Amino acid sequence: EQIAQAQTQLLGWYAAEQRDLPWRRTSDPYAILVSEIMLQQTQVDRVLPKYQQFLTAFPTLASLAEAPTADVINVWVPLGYNMRAVRLQSIARQVMTEYSGRIPDTIEELLKLKGVGRYTAGAIACFAYRRQVATVDTNIRRVLQRIFIGVEQPDTALTDGEMLAFAEQVLPSGEAYNWNQALMDMGATICPSNNPKCGTCPLQTSCKAYQEMSQHSLFPSGIV
Ligand code: ADE
Repeated sequence: EQIAQAQTQLLGWYAAEQRDLPWRRTSDPYAILVSEIMLQQTQVDRVLPKYQQFLTAFPTLASLAEAPTADVINVWVPLGYNMRAVRLQSIARQVMTEYSGRIPDTIEELLKLKGVGRYTAGAIACFAYRRQVATVDTNIRRVLQRIFIGVEQPDTALTDGEMLAFAEQVLPSGEAYNWNQALMDMGATICPSNNPKCGTCPLQTSCKAYQEMSQHSLFPSGIV
């Protein structure tokens, strides 16, 4: 059926084409937290050099928690949105005082950290602790919508809660890590919001949006 086919195709594509990113080579929850906060408003290419620099300056959660805030902001500055640096440090301090320095491993506990939302909680639970959970940011939302629901219409728009529940339903068993990372790669490369590269997409035969658009190619002007 469609879900199984899309899962196989996307996981197969990811196994062959995944981007080699440093936060995918670590299972240190602190490093993964740093990467996810950086990636929230900044593109991968710009995060890469800063990620290494930041971890060199503050190699552990404890070192970040103890540093003067001005030092943390200084290292962060070229990335912009400096409030993120302050928020990241306050998360580190809260983890030190309330969790003895160990970043929690469940979504429920992660959500108790001030400044950690459902996306970040899901990303840490999944990428650092291999929890089988869904997580939805704007890229994942768009890709899931296109594959499983079709070209977005006003009446197919889902609330965040509905989209998260939907993402849980299509999560392939035991493959949450690869699946969530694959959805991000898909959103960044083949399936961006503008000009998706459907011609080279491995999900052509399973993607609802692609099927819908193909029907329109019967019209001479085409919308694909
Ligand atoms: N954006 C947010 N998290 C990411 C990740 N783990 N890999 C690539 N892009 C991301």
